[in-house]
Amino acid sequence: MKKTTPRSPRPQLLPRSVSIIGTGSHVPARVMTNAEFAARKELDTSDEWIRSRTGIIERRFAGEKEFTSDMAAEAARRALSNANVKPDEVDLIIVATVTPDMPFPSTSTFVQHKLGAKRAACFDVNAACSGFLYALEIGQQFVAAHTYNTALVIGAEKLTSILDFTDRNTCVLFGDGAGAVVLRSRGGDSHGILTTCMGADGAQGDLLKVPAGGSRCPASHASVDGKLHAIRMMGREVFKQAVNAMNAAATEALARCNLNGPDIALVIPHQANLRIIDALGERISVPRDRIYVNLNRYGNTSAASVPIALDEAAHEGRIKRGDLVLMVAFGAGFTWASCVVQW
Ligand code: ACO
Repeated sequence: MKKTTPRSPRPQLLPRSVSIIGTGSHVPARVMTNAEFAARKELDTSDEWIRSRTGIIERRFAGEKEFTSDMAAEAARRALSNANVKPDEVDLIIVATVTPDMPFPSTSTFVQHKLGAKRAACFDVNAACSGFLYALEIGQQFVAAHTYNTALVIGAEKLTSILDFTDRNTCVLFGDGAGAVVLRSRGGDSHGILTTCMGADGAQGDLLKVPAGGSRCPASHASVDGKLHAIRMMGREVFKQAVNAMNAAATEALARCNLNGPDIALVIPHQANLRIIDALGERISVPRDRIYVNLNRYGNTSAASVPIALDEAAHEGRIKRGDLVLMVAFGAGFTWASCVVQW
């Protein structure tokens, strides 16, 4: 039997502040443009419709042999290198995903093996598009409580594996990719994760789901023929709820920190629809130039969207030391989550 990860002793230690000490992301090379969807006559869609209703211009599609764990591991390598942390220093790996490599083992264990992070405990989290912020909260708690010193939190998706490419209501919206952060305490530094909020409304699960593949409807010829392994979404209802829930989650996180929208240097919202992002900005009084948007290039990458955007924003110099950053997401379940970080 292998030894489990050594833990720090835990006698009555006060919670410590936790910082994001490195970020990384990875998207597949293949670019799928709106024009390519428009060229499929049977879809009856257009670049103009997709662009004006969603803000998406292109997205990335993973190759047949490129799995969620591959993208997650690459994003994680970049985050570790950015943080100057070696794989064997990692105590915990959490992967947020709705598209695991397989039902089990967890995708995080595949990532552990690919990284050579042999000391790390591993598990996955499923909170759909809010998954990364749920995982961030969990990782943060472990480090704050001194249970672990170094946590790797990843959001990764191969959504093309659960798309129905004959359904124009959904297939044009999503893309593949991964983003990762490394969490550690920086000692006495009061910067770091200031607050996290999470919520859910399980009564609305039917509005956005993959109906088959679980215990309720195991895979069968009928489930495959009925395309029940693909995303089904009531877009208009999801849209309304997304605006309300993201506003409420953002407002709660700001209130807990005694902050207002104008105090925030950069908002990193879940990248689902530009109209949702604009409505959020308006409600929390943050102008567009302080809201990070990359869904024009990647579409909705579910749990990967916030960490990819965070990594790009950090590398583009959009976030400086001391800046207040608000992250907020909404997804199937419904679930929502938010987080304020002082960089
Ligand atoms: N091309 C052309 N026409 C289309 C397309 C398309 N790709 N998709 C839908 N349409 C049509 C519809 O069939 C409908 O036609 P009809 O009026 O003849 O019935 C018409 O466009 C309008 O459809 P709506 O659904 O009302 O369009 P809407 O403006 O609401 O935009 C969209 C749809 C983009 C899906 C939007 O509702 C949305 O972004 N919803 C939220 C998605 C979201 O936030 N998801 C977050 C979580 S995702 C997760 O957790 C995995």
